[in-house]
Formats: sequence, structure tokens, C-alpha cells
Amino acid sequence: MILVTGGAGFIGSNFILDWLAQSDETVINLDKLTYAGNLQNLVSLSGDSRYHFVRGDIGNQELVSGLLAQYQPRAVVNLAAESHVDRSIHGPEAFIQTNIVGTFRLLDAVRVYWLALDEPAKSNFRFLHVSTDEVFGSLEADAPAFTETHRYQPSSPYSASKASSDHLVNAYYKTHGLPTLVTSCSNNYGPYQFPEKLIPLMIANALSGKPLPVYGDGRQIRDWLYVLDHCSALRRVLEAGKPGEAYNIGGWNEKPNIDIVHTICTLLQESVETSRSADYRSLITYVTDRPGHDTRYAIDAQKIERELNWKPGETFESGIRKTVQWYLDNQGWIANVQTGDYRLWIEKNYTRSVYENTAVR
Ligand code: NAD
Ligand code: TYD
Repeated sequence: MILVTGGAGFIGSNFILDWLAQSDETVINLDKLTYAGNLQNLVSLSGDSRYHFVRGDIGNQELVSGLLAQYQPRAVVNLAAESHVDRSIHGPEAFIQTNIVGTFRLLDAVRVYWLALDEPAKSNFRFLHVSTDEVFGSLEADAPAFTETHRYQPSSPYSASKASSDHLVNAYYKTHGLPTLVTSCSNNYGPYQFPEKLIPLMIANALSGKPLPVYGDGRQIRDWLYVLDHCSALRRVLEAGKPGEAYNIGGWNEKPNIDIVHTICTLLQESVETSRSADYRSLITYVTDRPGHDTRYAIDAQKIERELNWKPGETFESGIRKTVQWYLDNQGWIANVQTGDYRLWIEKNYTRSVYENTAVR
């Protein structure tokens, strides 16, 4: 079996659902259930004997050691993290605690467990740490995409904490020989993404006639990958990746933010039957830029393609269509996660005036 951390979050939910759709290998999901964790995402697995949920913190070494001893997993896939850049600007403490201290405690518990394993379980064991392209910092417009050897130059407390955790994972490989793998993926999108991130926020706001807040001039570039393509890459890295190695994961889909917002507006326009003759683009509102905003990310995914024969299955056009449709079909899911805490966050990050000054239909 495998132990997945952060399995109630966006990528984790997709990873577990996809894993159990493809194999019968049991998954233990260790998740603290922060605001970003949502067990509703995994409700289709209730009663499935291949799935066990444990509520807890990756930083609780006693708990993690107990789970490792009890379940004897052949791999740990570490997806647990604080993941939102804007929240890391308002409140970095949780990022340091989970992404750095938590990853360290998890790693150390895994090291002790792994050391006591007999062969061949010891050689076959893997610790897969899921990281981000944001650790490399911002790229100039004409610079080549990030390769695995690009220097680390994180800009936000989020990316700095992820970079720190990557260094710790690499140190455990070099110092202790723990068979680790690190993946750095570009921006994901798809079902179950919390509507604080660009794509689901824009869809949710558009559907309720609220402003679509674009930071700065909207020309910043992200490299987008459909979440199930990320999941298939993680499975492939787990299966065939070489311990101690890093793999960049991306879909060769660089897009300026404003183009993403326009695409969402167009797709909604096509799909939503409305008596209001919605012009979603009129909701676009340029707001104050994010401090330290990275202008461009781009992933060079040649290594994973060449060495592990992995390629994404979706184009951006097919992936974004599926995504918009999923949010249209699951408006109850959106409503359920837009709780009191969510509204407080929206008020904190986007000044009230953004919402008050725009003509909301
Ligand atoms: P998310 O915020 O949606 O989910 C994170 C999950 O981790 C939640 O279920 C939360 O409850 C859980 N969690 C948080 N702190 C925890 C702790 N201390 N112990 C146990 N569980 C804890 O994040 P996501 O978008 O699914 O990202 C998952 C991972 O992938 C993160 O490491 C992130 O850095 C990385 N990543 C994300 C993207 C992206 O575009 N979303 C891209 C590249 C890499
Ligand atoms: P986000 O989804 O927060 O991911 P990240 O910052 O980790 O790349 O943001 C994606 C891009 O969209 C980023 O350049 C910031 C921008 N953005 C907006 O313009 N408005 C918003 O309300 C949000 C949340 C993001």
C-alpha cells in the first residue's frame, strides 16, 4: 500500500481517485483537513476497503511513525502543504510549519521506518515529494523554460517554504540514502480546486455575477497542466523515477492570465443559458498587483518525456473545457466550500471596493 499526505486537497483528491480507478493497491490518506482539505471530494470511496482516511498533521512524528509501523507502506507521496501564494503573504507562519517543519518531521519518521525495512522492501521504497515550479522564481520573457538544474530563487513565502522542503528531501537522499524523488510541476487546474486559485475563482465569481479580479496588468504568464495529467506523471515517477532525481512536470501551455480569464468567459458564455444575456468579460476588474508577483513560469518537461516516456494527455483547450463543465455541473460543491472562512479570506485579500465599485449584475 501507499501513504498519501494531503489527499483531501485539490491534487491529492484527484490523485487518490485516479489511483484507485487504475489499481487495487490500498491508499492511506493522512490529512490535517485545513480549510483546503475537503472529504466531500472523496465521498465516492466511502465503504471502499482499499481506502483509509486518517486525520492528522504530517508534523506529528508520533502519529506518522505509528501509521508507518501499522500499514507498512511501500511508498509515501507527500502532497500535504499550504499552497496559496496570497495566503503566504498575509500569514506565512502556517507555511513554515507545514511545508518546512512538517516535511522535515515526516521525512525523519520515514527515515527511521525505512532503515528498519528488510530487503527488497528497503531498496524498493520511495518517498515522492511533490513540489512546484515556483521554487525557481520568475523567468524573463525570452528566457528558456525551467529545467531540473535551474537555480532555486523563490519569491514568495510559499515558494521559499517549498524550496526549503525540497532541499531537506535532497539532503535526506544525500546524507541517509533515503530513496527520494522530487517533482516540480507547473500550475494545475481541474476539478476540486479550491476557489481561491485563479481558474476556479474566476468561474465561481462569474457564475455569481461578481467581479473577476485580475492582478496588475494580467500579462503574467503561467504554464498550465490539467490535474489528471499531473497525477499520471506522479504515478510514472513513482514507478520508474530514479532515486535522488528531480523531474519537472508540465504541459507546454504558457498563457498570460488575462487570456485564461477571457477563455473562461467565452466558455461560460457558450454553456450557460441565462436570461441575463451575461457578458462575463464586463466583470473583469484590474486590481492592485500581488507583491513580489512572478512574471513568468515555464516548465521544460523534456527529461520526464525522454527518461520516463511521460506526456500529458490533455491540451489546454480540452482540459479547460472539461474544467469549466465540471464547475458548472458541481455548483453545490462550490457553494459548500464558500463558507464563512472563505468569505473572510475574500474580504481580506480583495479590498471591499473591488466588489463595490464594479457593476455587478
Ligand atoms: P491544496 O491546498 O488544495 O491541498 C493541500 C492539502 O494538504 C489539504 O487537504 C490540507 O488539508 C492538507 N494539509 C495542509 N497542511 C497539512 C499538514 N500539516 N498535515 C497534513 N495535511 C495537511 O493543495 P494542492 O493544490 O492540492 O497542492 C498539493 C501539493 O502540490 C502541494 O505540495 C503544492 O505545493 C504542490 N503543487 C501544487 C500545484 C497547483 O497548481 N495546485 C502545482 C505544483 C505543485
Ligand atoms: P494562483 O492560482 O494563485 O497560482 P500561483 O500564484 O501559484 O501561480 O494565480 C495564478 C495567476 O493568476 C498568478 O499570476 C496570480 C493571478 N491571479 C489573479 O490575477 N487574480 C486572482 O484573483 C488570483 C487568485 C490570481
